[in-house]
Amino acid sequence: MRIRIATDPGALACAGADLVAAVLRERPDAVLGLPTGDTPIGLYDELQRRVEAGAVDLSRAVGWAIDEFSGVPRAAPGTNSVFYRAHVRLPLRALQIPNPAARDPAAHIAAFADALRRAGGFDLCILGIGMNGHIAFNEPGSARDSRARVVTLAAGSRAAHAADFGGVERVPARALTLGIADLLGARRLLVLASGRAKAAIVRVAVVGPVKAEVPASWLQQHDDCTWLLDQEAAAELQGRSLSGDAG
Ligand code: PGA
Repeated sequence: MRIRIATDPGALACAGADLVAAVLRERPDAVLGLPTGDTPIGLYDELQRRVEAGAVDLSRAVGWAIDEFSGVPRAAPGTNSVFYRAHVRLPLRALQIPNPAARDPAAHIAAFADALRRAGGFDLCILGIGMNGHIAFNEPGSARDSRARVVTLAAGSRAAHAADFGGVERVPARALTLGIADLLGARRLLVLASGRAKAAIVRVAVVGPVKAEVPASWLQQHDDCTWLLDQEAAAELQGRSLSGDAG
């Protein structure tokens, strides 16, 4: 596991874009896992700037969502579909997003993960980390071998999305997510975390014991996983031996 520390969220976005660009140079038709959340927005903006400057070509790459809410229309404010439309204005060949209104959610997300495997699996999957250690919507208790499935959202995860949905009571109780095993199947992983509020969970995930109660701790078992943190998110790791400085 590599840990890189950026001086601030802007440097974090640039370092993340550098990694995506490197993957695209190796593999222009890369299969990319693209998370939602506040943290990756700067990276998406930076990639868009680089595309406009002619420095990055995403035209053969395909993006895949890693999770979505369940039981709401695609266009409902707060869904990941709405997030992607607002924040991922990248000229990808395609962007695959589960349908939050699928009539059979379990079959739908299983088929989504099958399609991802048939597409070759992730060359690079970018992740955020929730305050409770979730990755995608793998909430605490998610097993190493968990696959794409319907999950019940933790209360804290629903609270974190209250503003997007117009009140916590409007946040769906359930979600669709790729499983821990699906995420660990990526050839490369990039985890982004920013801000002091994430420092404690980042420390637990990076140096604590590997266990289902901290889903992000499973990432310690991947052999090409980079944590890209700003200084605030890395605050509780300081003093440990950390490799690299992302600027
Ligand atoms: P955030 O979400 O980037 O909005 O903090 C992270 C996550 O829950 O995965």
